[in-house]
Amino acid sequence: MAEKLNVAVIFGGVSNEYEVSCLSAANVITILDKSKYNVYVLGITRDGKWFLTDASPAQISSGKWLDADSRAAFISPDRSVRGIYVVGAKNIKIDVAFPVMHGKNGEDGAIAALLKLAGIPQVTTTMTSAACSMDKVITKILCEHAGIPQAKWKFFYSRNLHKNVSSIADEIEANFEYPVFVKPSSAGSSVGVAKCTDRANLEAGLLEAARHDFKVLVEQYIDGSEIEVAVIGNSEPMASVCGQIAPSGEFYSYDSKYNDENSKLYIPAKIADDTAEKVRRTALSVFRALECQGMARIDFFVRNNGEVIFNELNTIPGFTDISMYPKLMAHSCFRGSQLADRLINLAMAEDRI
Ligand SMILES: Nc1ncnc2c1ncn2[C@@H]1O[C@H](COP(=O)(O)OP(=O)(O)O)[C@@H](O)[C@H]1O
Ligand SMILES: [Mg+2]
Repeated sequence: MAEKLNVAVIFGGVSNEYEVSCLSAANVITILDKSKYNVYVLGITRDGKWFLTDASPAQISSGKWLDADSRAAFISPDRSVRGIYVVGAKNIKIDVAFPVMHGKNGEDGAIAALLKLAGIPQVTTTMTSAACSMDKVITKILCEHAGIPQAKWKFFYSRNLHKNVSSIADEIEANFEYPVFVKPSSAGSSVGVAKCTDRANLEAGLLEAARHDFKVLVEQYIDGSEIEVAVIGNSEPMASVCGQIAPSGEFYSYDSKYNDENSKLYIPAKIADDTAEKVRRTALSVFRALECQGMARIDFFVRNNGEVIFNELNTIPGFTDISMYPKLMAHSCFRGSQLADRLINLAMAEDRI
C-alpha cells in the first residue's frame, strides 16, 4: 500500500467569513480518507494567531476549537521546513495543503502565496488567479476581455465616496436605472452588499460598502434566477450540473445565506436543458478567463428569456456538508472523500501551473 500523505487543513483567519471557514474545515476534515492521509489541522484565530490543533470536527464547527489541545505552529515560508514549523517541537513535513479560508486574508491569494513560498502543493488556485477572482472589479475587467456577459457596471474608489458621495450618486443616476446593486469590490458572504432603490438608500449603500473595501462596485440589478456551477480541474476543467438558489429575502444576503432555513437550493436547477448547457459552458469560460486551477464555484443570473449573466466566482467556495460546491460535485462526479482525493490529485498533477 502507498505511503500516507501528510495533509495540512488550514482554516479560520482574519476574515469576515471566519465562521463559515470553521464549518467548511470541519467537513473537509471529516471527508478526508484517513487510510490515505495523515491530517494535520492548523487553525488561525480571528486576530491571526496560528495553532496546530487536536480539535474534533464538532469542536471546530462550533467555533470552540481553542478548547482542545493546541500548540503555536504555522506554515513556514522556509523551504527547508516544507511544512509546519511547530514552536518548541519537531517540524512536520507536509505533502499537500487544503486551505479552507474564505474571503480576505485567505481566498484572496494570501494563503496561496504563503504555500507557494513554502514550496507546498495546495488544492486551491494560484495566488494570481485567487487575487483576481476575489476582487470583483478585476474579475469584471478580465471577463469583459473574454467576452463573458455581465451586468452593466462601474466602480468608484472609497476615498472619493467618503469625500463626495453626492456627485458620485449623480453619476450613477445618470448611467443606471433603479434598482442598482452596490458592493465592496472584495468582501464575500454578501457583507456590505445592498440593493438600492432610491437616492437615499443609494448614498447610504455606497458609504456602507466603502467601509468594507477601498473600491466599491455598482451594478445594474438583474431580475433572474441565481444559478451556480461547480468546476473542477486544471488544464481540462469539468463543470457540474447547475444548482439554483432560492433566497428567502429580497436577495441572497448574509442572513438568508446562513441564518434562514427558508433559503432553498435546487439541484438540478429549474431551468431548460439548453440554458443549463449554456451556463455550464460559460462557467468553463470564466474558469479559463481567470486562469483558475483546482476548483471554483461560478455564480450566474439567468433571466426568464434564457439569457445567462455571470455574477461572480469563488475560488475557495463554501465546503460545509450543505454547501453548493460539494453538493453539485456529489451530484455530478465526486462524492465526499472522492472529491477530496480528486482535489489532492489535481494539486499534485503535472498539468498544475
Ligand atoms: N446585479 C445584481 N442583480 C441582482 N441581484 C444581485 C446582483 N448582484 C448581487 N445580487 C444579489 O446579492 C447577492 C450577493 O452578491 P455577490 O455579488 O454574490 O456577493 P458575495 O461575494 O458577497 O456573495 C447575490 O447572491 C444576489 O442575491
Ligand atoms: Mg455571491
